[in-house]
Amino acid sequence: MSIAQEVRCRADLDTPALCVDLEAMEANIAAVVRACAAHGVAWRPHAKCHKSVAIAHKLLAAGAIGMTCAKLGEAEVMAAGGVTDLLIANLVVGPRKLRRLAQLRRVADPIVCVDHPRQVEALSGTMCQQPEPLRVLVEVDIGLQRVGVLPGAPAVELARRVHGSPGLQLAGIMGYEGHLLQIQDPDEKQSRVAAALDLLVTTAEQLRAEHLPCPIVSCGGTGSFRYAVAHPGITEVQAGGAIFMDEFYRTRCQVTDLQYALTVLTTVVSRPAADRAIIDAGRKTLNMELVMPRVRDRQGIEIVSLSAEHGTLRLAPEAQDLQIGDRLELIPGYGDLTTVLHDRFYALRGDTIEAVWPLDARGRLQ
Ligand SMILES: Cc1ncc(COP(=O)(O)O)c(C=O)c1O
Repeated sequence: MSIAQEVRCRADLDTPALCVDLEAMEANIAAVVRACAAHGVAWRPHAKCHKSVAIAHKLLAAGAIGMTCAKLGEAEVMAAGGVTDLLIANLVVGPRKLRRLAQLRRVADPIVCVDHPRQVEALSGTMCQQPEPLRVLVEVDIGLQRVGVLPGAPAVELARRVHGSPGLQLAGIMGYEGHLLQIQDPDEKQSRVAAALDLLVTTAEQLRAEHLPCPIVSCGGTGSFRYAVAHPGITEVQAGGAIFMDEFYRTRCQVTDLQYALTVLTTVVSRPAADRAIIDAGRKTLNMELVMPRVRDRQGIEIVSLSAEHGTLRLAPEAQDLQIGDRLELIPGYGDLTTVLHDRFYALRGDTIEAVWPLDARGRLQ
């Protein structure tokens, strides 16, 4: 019997279980699509948070133009599932990966990033022997100080090299403003994101002034999506975790207009003290690196620590009626690092399980 046949409603779920509230997720998708449409910007959501072909198709049906992937392996899984317009927002390095990329180009239309002439040379060396060219974005460092060539002249120079390389098609530029997500003051956040994105847009204008093609100017994660989507000159945004929402986006990034769609259902397995309860979810089920997960819809319960397979809750007097066997719904601290601990999502509409979605690209780190 398939999992979907075994479990029909929330009560059938054993715990811990990774759950998606379909109504909330659909509302989040609609909110992002509306914001993109209002500004004439395309949406290429990051698939790194769901890694699911079924969710990717749901996003495409809602208006996404393709998927953004973190790894070549993720893009391969998406392509095998019929998703072909794929931005690998990363550098693809090494002969094995280049061979796989050439193979991927035969069944899909991927885009890859570069930030150094050596990557351009290697990509061109592989792709010049292929029937179709590979789309390439120049990744620009707009302040994150992770990867990326500097904006302005260095980016233009690298773009010129891509443009002149056989087998490659210059498709534009991308940058990620991830260093600015957690600025608490909204005015400061708005102005600093705008300044970072200006670096990207100005670089795009410099490319065009040099008659270099730059149809794509891509940026924008969930934590800064509202600013990115409204920034003149941006052509597409990558916000992905927006479909799920989590405590990191809400409390650290001040994202207030999306609903919690992702939860982890857990069971109380021990009540060692009046003010302490233990749940069946620890660090192998939840992630606490950025923000602690939170118990949903119950007052007076705080998650104080996670060991590998146990979560420790502190109970205020009003919550001390909690019993062994009670089930609690948790909001993940950071969805992105939580989903990948699980094999599947249980997609619920109300209390009914409408679908079971595997995380198809989970573990595809290469
Ligand atoms: C390149 C890139 N784009 C976008 C994002 C934002 O992703 P999300 O919208 O899921 O927070 C990230 C997050 O790490 C990223 O590395």
